[in-house]
Amino acid sequence: MRDRVLDPHGSGALRSRGVIALALCLSACGSKKSLTKAEAEDPLTCKQCHPRHYDEWSRSMHAYASEDPVFIAMNKRGQRASPPIADFCIKCHAPVALLEGATMDGTNLASVPQKLHGVTCYFCHTADSVTGTHNASLHLAGDVLMRGGIHDPVDNNVHDGAYSPIHDNVNPMSATLCGSCHDIVTHKGAALERTFAEWQTSVFATGSMGKETCAGCHMNPRQGLAAENVPGVKLRTVHSHVMAAVDTALTPFTESDTLKMEVASELQATVQAELCVETNPTNRIIVILDNIGAGHRWPSGASQDRRLWVEVVAKKGGQTIYQSGVVTSTMTPESADADTWLVRDCIYDETGKEVHMFWEAASVKPNQLPAPLTINRSDPRFFATHVSRRYPYTTDLPEIPDEVTLRVRLQPIGLSVLDDLIAGGDLDSTLRAQMPTLDLPIGDELGQTTLKWTIRTASVAVSDQQEQLRCVGPGVCQTNGMCTVITSSAAKSHLTCG
Ligand code: HEC
Ligand code: HEC
Ligand code: HEC
Ligand code: HEC
Ligand code: HEC
Repeated sequence: MRDRVLDPHGSGALRSRGVIALALCLSACGSKKSLTKAEAEDPLTCKQCHPRHYDEWSRSMHAYASEDPVFIAMNKRGQRASPPIADFCIKCHAPVALLEGATMDGTNLASVPQKLHGVTCYFCHTADSVTGTHNASLHLAGDVLMRGGIHDPVDNNVHDGAYSPIHDNVNPMSATLCGSCHDIVTHKGAALERTFAEWQTSVFATGSMGKETCAGCHMNPRQGLAAENVPGVKLRTVHSHVMAAVDTALTPFTESDTLKMEVASELQATVQAELCVETNPTNRIIVILDNIGAGHRWPSGASQDRRLWVEVVAKKGGQTIYQSGVVTSTMTPESADADTWLVRDCIYDETGKEVHMFWEAASVKPNQLPAPLTINRSDPRFFATHVSRRYPYTTDLPEIPDEVTLRVRLQPIGLSVLDDLIAGGDLDSTLRAQMPTLDLPIGDELGQTTLKWTIRTASVAVSDQQEQLRCVGPGVCQTNGMCTVITSSAAKSHLTCG
């Protein structure tokens, strides 16, 4: 239990929760704020007045960033590299622990005070300027003034608040705060994680119709109280701190089932799929994937570790006549058939040899789904996100199937990445079974993960190359019968990185 509890009223109102409230600031302290830096660094301090922000953050990947066993394993392995990666990882995964000198390289996290683990409240809210585009180039004021998007924070005895444009989701500058940590350049110069750079070229940063920032999409707004248990506060637009996306905890962690549901719901409107069968001049299946929701390429960020792939099964009279990308839950998608459309980044060292651990990377070959560049359908760039692949890849189907099913599947961290860490003795082998495979909701009904084609339900369409098609799925092929089947470089499979 904490020894001191802050009490904004000075009236001991928190005592009702069973804690002995000790007012830090009694009436005599006037305008002097009572929060010390050491207290401000502890998220539990903030919980007293910002319980909902605390709860949301507690189940987020920001809170889990230095608990993640895969992070711990990779960081440990990286310390054996030459040169050792030293504080490279911990600078982003537990930045306040590094600042406070509680760790040099993150290998002693078990003995670092819990309040310094992860990306904490204090880190984000004491940041006062952004000094670069990657590798956590942020300046921290180190004071107890809490910066946020509120112009007129209610006065309280504990901390001052101030409006900050880099925290305000409505201001495009706010993307630089998130972006500075979400882009990684390795010491060998590979632009490994590029979410911010990708966003900068997307319609969400360049659009003349208004911009949409990282926080605009990832911090869902609601009407609520910015602080509770404090007199004078009023309803405002406040912002969720869950930031659910892809990753969830692999070990027991706060409300991890809730986060899993939130991830499923975030994935709802990320990728749109269409499934066509070409009936003339050849018989082939065409899968079209469209990144309709992400404000950057997708999967973004740790795309060298993610595995996104497409499963297609075609049947005739109940018999499977063709399939691709079919794997069991314990198999890696890399071990599927040669036609498998696998989306991930490949990384290489200086000599062009494929590497698995990202500090070894000197170059990177991306193949994620592109980011939206325009919302104008008559602009040819509209179809840049419209990526298609034909099955079988090199031949034709023996006959026109009567049923085809499609699933788009994602392993947040590929099993082959885990296998590598297990083989090196850095990761507990039982964690392999904890890695989920997420099926994207692409079906006709909400939450349905299989898109089903039958000759009866498909609509007639024609491709831009005058092929005759029958299509299902919510996109343009079905709705206006004109399909743009662009086979861009993003449709390449990165089944191997050779
Ligand atoms: C004693 C209660 C109390 C504690 C403890 C507390 N806050 Fe606050 N905080 C407030 C109040 C009151 C506001 C103003 C709310 C409003 O205007 O609606 C506020 C506002 C904020 C804002 C918005 C500032 C702005 O202008 O946008 C941030 C960010 C913030 N707090 C972060 C924190 C963090 C981080 C901690 C933990 C280190 C913390 N607070 C601890 C009471 C508290
Ligand atoms: C300290 C640097 C830092 C800052 C600043 C930062 N993040 Fe993060 N963020 C991280 C790290 C590290 C993780 C990964 C944690 C993990 O999965 O182990 C993460 C995870 C995430 C995730 C979850 C990713 C997933 O795959 O599930 C989202 C979404 C996210 N951040 C969005 C944001 C947004 C939006 C902002 C700005 C408001 C922001 N981040 C600011 C470091 C940062
Ligand atoms: C990854 C960075 C990040 C972390 C970690 C973080 N916040 Fe925030 N927080 C933000 C941003 C950005 C905003 C402003 C959103 C806006 O106004 O557009 C914000 C806003 C707030 C606000 C103002 C009300 C609102 O919802 O807009 C409060 C209060 C707050 N945060 C408290 C906390 C507390 C408490 C924690 C830890 C339990 C925390 N934050 C952790 C980035 C962060
Ligand atoms: C137009 C809305 C939008 C904007 C703008 C946006 N994102 Fe995303 N982001 C998404 C969606 C949708 C996803 C996919 C949903 C999911 O993963 O559950 C996503 C996924 C992510 C992920 C998960 C990693 C992955 O594999 O994709 C991270 C991290 C992330 N975004 C960070 C950011 C950052 C940082 C910015 C700003 C530079 C940003 N996002 C801007 C909508 C947006
Ligand atoms: C510049 C900040 C930054 C640095 C440096 C950094 N990370 Fe991360 N890390 C992130 C962000 C942001 C995410 C979330 C990306 C996403 O969701 O796609 C992340 C996600 C992860 C994940 C979970 C997803 C995955 O499998 O990749 C692991 C594990 C991880 N990082 C390990 C490391 C290790 C080990 C190092 C050092 C070699 C490191 N990180 C260095 C910011 C950083």
